[in-house]
Amino acid sequence: MKLIVWITVLPVVFALTITIPRAPDENAPFVSKSLISFSIEQDRWPDWAGSSFFLNTLENIRGITGAPPDIRIGANSEDKTNFSFDVKYAEALFPAPSATVPYPEATNITVGNGFYQLIQRMPRGTHVTWGVPLGPLNATAAVLEAKAIMNAFNSPVCKAAGITLDYLEIGNEADLYKNNGFRPSSYSSSQYVQEWTALATNVSNAVKLSKTGTKFLVGSFAGSSSKTTGFSPQAIYSEGVLESEPGSLIAAFSEHHYSGSFCAGNGGLLSDLMTKSTIRTNITIYTTDVEATHARGLDYILGETNSYACHGAPGVSNTAGAALWGLDYALFSTQIGISQVFFHVGIGFKYNLIQPISLTRSILDGSPLPSPSPPHVQPLYYANVIAAELRGSQAKVQISEISIDHPQIAGYVAFEGSKLVRAVFINSKAFFAESANRTSVHLDFALDGPSPPRTMTIKRLAIGHADDVSGLTWGGQTYETENGKVRGKLSLEVQHVADGVDIAETEVILVNFARGYL
Ligand SMILES: *[C@@H]1O[C@H](CO)[C@@H](O)[C@H](O)[C@H]1NC(C)=O
Ligand SMILES: *[C@@H]1O[C@H](CO)[C@@H](O)[C@H](O)[C@H]1NC(C)=O
Ligand SMILES: *[C@@H]1O[C@H](CO)[C@@H](O)[C@H](O)[C@H]1NC(C)=O
Ligand SMILES: *[C@@H]1O[C@H](CO)[C@@H](O)[C@H](O)[C@H]1NC(C)=O
Ligand SMILES: *[C@@H]1O[C@H](CO)[C@@H](O)[C@H](O)[C@H]1NC(C)=O
Ligand SMILES: *[C@@H]1O[C@H](CO)[C@@H](O)[C@H](O)[C@H]1NC(C)=O
Repeated sequence: MKLIVWITVLPVVFALTITIPRAPDENAPFVSKSLISFSIEQDRWPDWAGSSFFLNTLENIRGITGAPPDIRIGANSEDKTNFSFDVKYAEALFPAPSATVPYPEATNITVGNGFYQLIQRMPRGTHVTWGVPLGPLNATAAVLEAKAIMNAFNSPVCKAAGITLDYLEIGNEADLYKNNGFRPSSYSSSQYVQEWTALATNVSNAVKLSKTGTKFLVGSFAGSSSKTTGFSPQAIYSEGVLESEPGSLIAAFSEHHYSGSFCAGNGGLLSDLMTKSTIRTNITIYTTDVEATHARGLDYILGETNSYACHGAPGVSNTAGAALWGLDYALFSTQIGISQVFFHVGIGFKYNLIQPISLTRSILDGSPLPSPSPPHVQPLYYANVIAAELRGSQAKVQISEISIDHPQIAGYVAFEGSKLVRAVFINSKAFFAESANRTSVHLDFALDGPSPPRTMTIKRLAIGHADDVSGLTWGGQTYETENGKVRGKLSLEVQHVADGVDIAETEVILVNFARGYL
């Protein structure tokens, strides 16, 4: 590596020459317009559905890719949800907040038809997964909820807006039922398969699932043994989950994943979360599960994921560094065949992409805020925007990771048809407020093939420090506005490809090689 002197505000410590392919290789995955999607803790779904701020942040993404993020509603409270015709929306019981859990989840929630009808408020074209309980083994509740869900989606409003139920999910993280009181310690995946099949039979008979486009997704496990023993896709496939009548309606396997947990009040380090190599090892543990799932003709998604379990780690999950983590994590997931990544959110959770309503307690320690904090985006939302801009709005876009032999620089390239259009680069070295001088890496691009592009446009995610919680700008613009819509003058740099580009510690750049911009 050569040390070069570059005219810039930041000292360039070294340069990298990056070979950018001009055409996708045959295995390059086609990437969903809704790669980054939302998983919503359902105990406070009415707060999400009622937030025009939330809707604006979804519409922002639709404006970029042509499709809003998908949403999955359920999670932990899905297994604590009962149904009553006497309840309009929802009645829930919440434990007292604590410093570790400032916004606890409901221990008990009873919902009525109106709860599900709120789906009408979502943007046109929203695709949805909704969960019904398996934990309490109450078929009556599961069936009443499934009927209410189907009725909500069959409404003229949903039909006209193309708001579609892709999947019903039955039960959340059944592999943890033996730890949380739903099942004895002997609970196994074969019992899960029996229970799932019985309840799915009830549900599919009651809502005539086979006559609709809605399918089941299965799994939603918190972890995976990746073997035919323990809980894993391999185990439940070998135990026949796909062979029953409702099993024939399974179209996807959902895995849940967190990089660590804050459940006991102990978070990881932001610098570890952002590290290129740990992002890759967190995802590649699922390679064999993805292959086993694709071999059955099913889609494989991370149906619930985020940085640190139990709502995130303070000073880590809510920071700018988490945006770099989330972007690399979601894009890398596509490279092993994961089709979508649903980032989990709840009211007041630390790892949210956005906070959709005013909060009166600190998300970090539960202390009362001097004045309510209005709805706002958190840094992780920028990962959603940037992934969407890399993907773009064409029907078929392939994204490949660029091979970069360096521990702090990651890159991905997007192709429309077979044409190179854009690339994104992430410098994941954490630059903290107390760090020494911030350095840059100079990237030189080698573009092979005939008539390579000569100019490029650069868009930067500007970040003060990795541990900042606000003040980010994307191409000079901000989403930190009162309504969640972008504001400010777009600022791009146009450069000769031959000159390369600098990327600072804790920075993302989007390089557009196509003529014009976006
Ligand atoms: C469900 O609701 C019924 C009636 O409201 C109640 O008796 C029952 O305990 C509830 N079940 C759960 C698991 O909350
Ligand atoms: C099962 O759910 C139904 C409908 O919500 C409720 O009426 C019933 O009490 C529940 N049973 C139990 C044992 O919780
Ligand atoms: C849940 O709340 C309902 C009323 O909202 C109550 O009838 C039921 O007993 C509660 N169940 C549990 C398990 O606390
Ligand atoms: C679920 O299916 C079982 C077995 O067919 C049946 O006995 C039970 O009544 C069904 N329950 C509901 C709520 O549909
Ligand atoms: C996942 O990432 C975290 C850092 O956020 C790291 O501590 C952990 O070891 C990684 N897990 C795997 C399986 O690589
Ligand atoms: C930081 O930059 C200043 C000014 O260029 C320099 O004097 C100082 O030695 C640098 N510190 C480190 C730790 O590199």
